[in-house]
Amino acid sequence: MALWMLNSWPLLLLLVAASQQAWLPPVEDVVQLETKGYQALSGSFETREDNNSEDNYRLPNNTVPIAYNVELWTQVHNGTRNFSGSVSIDLQVVEASNTITLHARQTENFEAVLQSKDSATSAPISLNVDYELTREFLTFKPVDSTISFAKDSNWTLSINYTGLLRDDMGGFYISTYTDDSNVVHYLATTQFESTNARHAFPCYDEPAKRANFTITIHHDPSHNAISNMPVNEAESSNGKTVFLTTPKMSTYLIAFIVSEFESTGGELNGLPQRVFSRKGKQDQQEWTLWSGLVVEASLEKYLGVPFALPKLDQAGIPDFSAGAMENWGLATYREQYMWWTKETSTINLKTSITNIIGHEYAHMWFGDLVSLKWWTYLWLKEGFATLFSYESNNIAFPEWNTYQIFHVSDYNSALINDASISTPMSHYVQTPNEISGRYGTISYAKPASVLYMFKNAFTDAVFQRGLNRYLTENQYNSTDEWNLFASLQEAADELGLKLPAGVPDIFSSWSTQAGFPLLTVERNYETGTFTIKQQRYLNDKDAANEATWYVPINCASASNPDYRNTTASHYLLKVKELTVSDVQISKDDWLILNKQSTGFYRILYDEENYRLISQGLLEQPYAFHTRNRAQLLHDAYRFVDTGRLSQATLFQLMAYLRNEDQYAPWSTANSILTIYDTYLRGDVNYVHFREFVIELVENIFNKLGVNEIPGEHYLNNYLRVTLVSLACQVGSSKCYQQSHKKLQDSLNNGAPIEPTLRTQAYCAGLREAEDATFNLVVNNLLNSNDATDRSTYISSLGCAQDADQLKKFVAYSIDETNNLSYSERTSVLSAAYTRSEAGLTASLDFLEANWKAYGDLGTGTQKPLDSALRGIASSVVSESQKNRLNALVDTVRTNGAEYLADNTETAVQANMKSNFDWLDVHREPVINWLVAYRTNGSSSLSASTFAILAMFVTLLLYRFN
Ligand SMILES: *[C@@H]1O[C@H](CO)[C@@H](O)[C@H](O)[C@H]1NC(C)=O
Ligand SMILES: *[C@@H]1O[C@H](CO)[C@@H](O)[C@H](O)[C@H]1NC(C)=O
Ligand SMILES: *[C@@H]1O[C@H](CO)[C@@H](O)[C@H](O)[C@H]1NC(C)=O
Ligand SMILES: *[C@@H]1O[C@H](CO)[C@@H](O)[C@H](O)[C@H]1NC(C)=O
Repeated sequence: MALWMLNSWPLLLLLVAASQQAWLPPVEDVVQLETKGYQALSGSFETREDNNSEDNYRLPNNTVPIAYNVELWTQVHNGTRNFSGSVSIDLQVVEASNTITLHARQTENFEAVLQSKDSATSAPISLNVDYELTREFLTFKPVDSTISFAKDSNWTLSINYTGLLRDDMGGFYISTYTDDSNVVHYLATTQFESTNARHAFPCYDEPAKRANFTITIHHDPSHNAISNMPVNEAESSNGKTVFLTTPKMSTYLIAFIVSEFESTGGELNGLPQRVFSRKGKQDQQEWTLWSGLVVEASLEKYLGVPFALPKLDQAGIPDFSAGAMENWGLATYREQYMWWTKETSTINLKTSITNIIGHEYAHMWFGDLVSLKWWTYLWLKEGFATLFSYESNNIAFPEWNTYQIFHVSDYNSALINDASISTPMSHYVQTPNEISGRYGTISYAKPASVLYMFKNAFTDAVFQRGLNRYLTENQYNSTDEWNLFASLQEAADELGLKLPAGVPDIFSSWSTQAGFPLLTVERNYETGTFTIKQQRYLNDKDAANEATWYVPINCASASNPDYRNTTASHYLLKVKELTVSDVQISKDDWLILNKQSTGFYRILYDEENYRLISQGLLEQPYAFHTRNRAQLLHDAYRFVDTGRLSQATLFQLMAYLRNEDQYAPWSTANSILTIYDTYLRGDVNYVHFREFVIELVENIFNKLGVNEIPGEHYLNNYLRVTLVSLACQVGSSKCYQQSHKKLQDSLNNGAPIEPTLRTQAYCAGLREAEDATFNLVVNNLLNSNDATDRSTYISSLGCAQDADQLKKFVAYSIDETNNLSYSERTSVLSAAYTRSEAGLTASLDFLEANWKAYGDLGTGTQKPLDSALRGIASSVVSESQKNRLNALVDTVRTNGAEYLADNTETAVQANMKSNFDWLDVHREPVINWLVAYRTNGSSSLSASTFAILAMFVTLLLYRFN
């Protein structure tokens, strides 16, 4: 299934990486809200083994399911949650036994009977039922204890039961929506991954226990039912929908929806597709339907394996916990991820929709057609789905340059999350909770990045053929990673790809150990050779580790800046060190490893090479591939933050940005510079930082401006949002003026603001707005009924810089005469103090005078004042702010301790300390570099630039002689 995604991913990622401390929730919580019971993939892990011990959560293997007949009765149309069901399972006994064990969850009133399939005449056998709650085992035993089941005998087990539609978005659950006439509508739908099919009907709820399913649903005639397969019209009648039998499939991929949804449909290459959602939204489904058609066709073409079912549907569900779910033939989505309109939706939503469709549709092959032997290999489906969410989009829309997005989101997310304690991609788990704990970066972004590395290192031809073999040889079956490696090996052999070791050895070095390598490159400038050392990259640079990988490598240099061929030219063969002597790099040439940044590792160069790279970037930025430029910055930032590289090196690299016009490098730079901005904004020397950034942004900002340009590349839309945010954050007057004008035109003359730029336009436009504009936005806030608009207004008003406006704004949090909700009131202060020093000062002023009233906003266990104090602490970067906050906390502790938690002081101190710790280490070198740069101009890039200039001058003179 797809995780829940945010568009501000790159920034969040770096922010989290910047502070392994307390002031932001771990990235997994923010970015990847997933199944309930999700646990962040850090901390300690219990290692489990696949054995036969007493507390084994795996189903016994004495019987196997062949086919299910599932029949359900629901009256969800009027909100009734009770349902009843009847399931008959054809099963085969593979080890002689006298019990049959299945899974069940939250269902009851079981009545069961067993009928032999081998002799139609034998009498039905009555069964006793035993339910074990811990493992959710439902075990049947003949009432007559002399009866047992012979090996190879065949039976039909019939069970009647009752259940309750859940209201927590799991299993068979109820969802509601209110239409435009305020009528509430009910629907029943399903979300079974990973272990919830057992809630809808007793079953062998393990992914490898595939079987045929025939589903029948009884419902009110006012509602319709859809499922994985088309309707069996001959068997269906009014209020009874019977579906055609599925191919052999896993339980967690079954889905059915009983609703009043309406659909739009289309067909491409003979495969009909439909999009279902609530009535009245059909005109907004066009993008989903159309991009679904081309994405499916793209996948089919690349994989060379046709889609297996007769139809493919997508449905938008009002209440949905994950981002989307790949039920075979019936993918389900959060409804917001399905509706798109040109007038009101952002470009980010448009590309996200297609990306999510790519993810779910890729699962139709990876996970659905070929399923997992067990959840140990969750990555084997999620890694492919994540990779193909980009690859399918890249095939369908080559002009999108979608791998730039992959780079700044999944690729970097994996590098960040796999840099401290983590588990390997393949990791044995048993209980439902342990299985839920696998839904995170290690099963999604990391395997996608590792697969992408080998797609490039082995060549796309080998990868593509390997996948075709893998899918063809294992269709309707279950696999583990070794099946994949075997298929890739066969493809490599067939196409004559020479590898220095077997694919299973190479690939498993990445899937069976945690982490990824840090390559340290040292050049020998005399001989032209270089040495690469590998160790695991850990944020703690002094942590001991001995891990090694098979690392594919290739390189480009100043004399050979050709990035097209991304095949590995060399491998580090699971050894600590490799000296490359067959590529000669002359001593004045820069060297870049990892063309297009397709390898999944970080690279630390020696000082001299960094100097050559910075110089090369300034002179010829396009001699470096876009994703290499982005990654140079990303790696350098992480190296500086972990004490491996000097601030000067990072800033020298960033100096080239004034000639950068691509999204991925700017996205990374924006994340880095925004972090520095939060630390430095209270500094007496802040001016040097802001002038530096303004200078970097100037060229590209002048080119892109604050308005969309018709027909431009969509990455320019992305880039503009980034640039407006950054330029205005550091106070570019051009950015202020243009944004202000844009906002005024909209407020006064009704000029529409492009949806993608809305948030930025409001925030930037309010930074230096006169009171009239400020008041117009306040009025909009107070008069709007749209929750999204209201939150945009609140967040933007916090961007104001004027002390009086801010004073007025923060006071809205406690003003009882306005209509703000509790959550809106408590978002006012953070909109101000996270934005600027002025906002922080206004928040402190306000709370010093009104802390009691602010604390009284909370009822029950809510402690808004406590949250505000902790939040402010995270933004405190100067001594005077620190003293004021401490005094305020003291006052509240003495006069209103009930507004605080027991550990408020500890948390406040910790949040401030993490900022001051950063400043202690990094402030001086950064300021020194900036002062020197600003004093000497670019010449602070020192002797080397002069040397080069001198060289050119000499050359010129020589020529003219
Ligand atoms: C059933 O078989 C699978 C696959 O061989 C195995 O992993 C699992 O542990 C077995 N179950 C039990 C209870 O032994
Ligand atoms: C819902 O409708 C069913 C008939 O379809 C009826 O038996 C039941 O009483 C109704 N329940 C409610 C709560 O209205
Ligand atoms: C299940 O219910 C149906 C309808 O009431 C009945 O005919 C059937 O015998 C029941 N099956 C079991 C196993 O009790
Ligand atoms: C059970 O079914 C299988 C597969 O259809 C068949 O091969 C086997 O002979 C059957 N067993 C008996 C005892 O008839």
